[in-house]
Amino acid sequence: MNNLIDGKKISLDLQQEIAAEVKRMKEQGRRAPHLAAILVGNDGGSETYVASKIKACENVGFTSTMIRHPEYVTEEKLLQSVYDLNNNPEIDGFIVQLPLPRQINEHKIIESILPSKDVDGFHPINVGRMVLNLPCYVSATPYGIVHLLQKYNVETSGKHCVVIGRSHIVGSPMSILLAKNTQLGNCTVTLCHSKTKDLKSHTLTADILICALGSPEFVTADMVKEGAVVIDVGTTRVVSTETKSGFKLKGDIKFDEVAPKCSLITPVPGGVGPMTIASLLRNTLLAAKKEIYS
Ligand code: GUN
Repeated sequence: MNNLIDGKKISLDLQQEIAAEVKRMKEQGRRAPHLAAILVGNDGGSETYVASKIKACENVGFTSTMIRHPEYVTEEKLLQSVYDLNNNPEIDGFIVQLPLPRQINEHKIIESILPSKDVDGFHPINVGRMVLNLPCYVSATPYGIVHLLQKYNVETSGKHCVVIGRSHIVGSPMSILLAKNTQLGNCTVTLCHSKTKDLKSHTLTADILICALGSPEFVTADMVKEGAVVIDVGTTRVVSTETKSGFKLKGDIKFDEVAPKCSLITPVPGGVGPMTIASLLRNTLLAAKKEIYS
C-alpha cells in the first residue's frame, strides 16, 4: 500500500529550499532571518513543539531566541515581552506558543503582536487579509496542508472537502483557504463541529477529509468514503510504555482501519506536523525579506 503522504520528506524539501535562500542572503552580506518564540509554563506538548521549531531554525541557518515565562506570569509582563520583540529590529518574526494559562487573555496577546512580525498568521489583520486574498502570513498548519495537497497533485477544484473542527488555528482558516477561487482552492467545503448533526452523513461524502479535532482515533473506517484523501491534524500526546519519553502522539484518525480505504492519508507522526514547522520557517523567511509588509 503506497498511499502515505510523507510530510517529513516534503517538509525537509521545503527546509532545503529555505536553507539555500538563507545561504544566498548570507553571501550577500545580509544577516540570517531571526525567529523568536515565547513559551509560557512547562506544558510537555508546548515544550516539545517549541523545541522542534528552534531546532528547525538551526537546520536552515536561522537565528532563534526562546523567551520563557513561568505559568503564573502576569498579562502585563507577557505584553511587555511582546512589545520588546515588536520593537527589536533584530527580530524578523515571533510566535507566542498557545495555549496560554487562564489568567492571560489570548486575544489581547495576539492582537499586541505587530502584524508584520506575526509569522503564525494569527493576528486579525493577517486573518482578514487571508480572507480577502491580500498578501499576508497564512497560518502554518493550513498552509502546510495546502502545500502537501499540491505536492501530491490532489485535485481540489469541484471536490467536496469536509473539515472537522473549527479552531482559529486550523479548522476555520483551512475551510476558507480551500473554498477560495484559487488554484489550490475551489473546493465545496463543509465545516463540521461539535454541534453538527449526523457527522457521518457529511464525512461519507468527502473527497478530502481534514480532521483537526484533537480527539485520538475519532474517525473510524465507517465514516470515510472509499478513495478519499484523508488529512490528520490531530497530535494528542498519550501515555505510552512503548517509547523512551513515556508518551506517544496519536492522530484523530483510526489509522489502521481507515488507511486501506484512502487514496492518500497522512500518518501521525510524520504527516502534517513537520509541515507546520516548515511553513513557520517559510513565513519567517518572508518576514526577513519584507515580502509581505515592506
Ligand atoms: N499551539 C498549537 N499549534 C500552534 C501554532 O501553530 N502556533 C502557536 N503559536 N501555538 C500553537
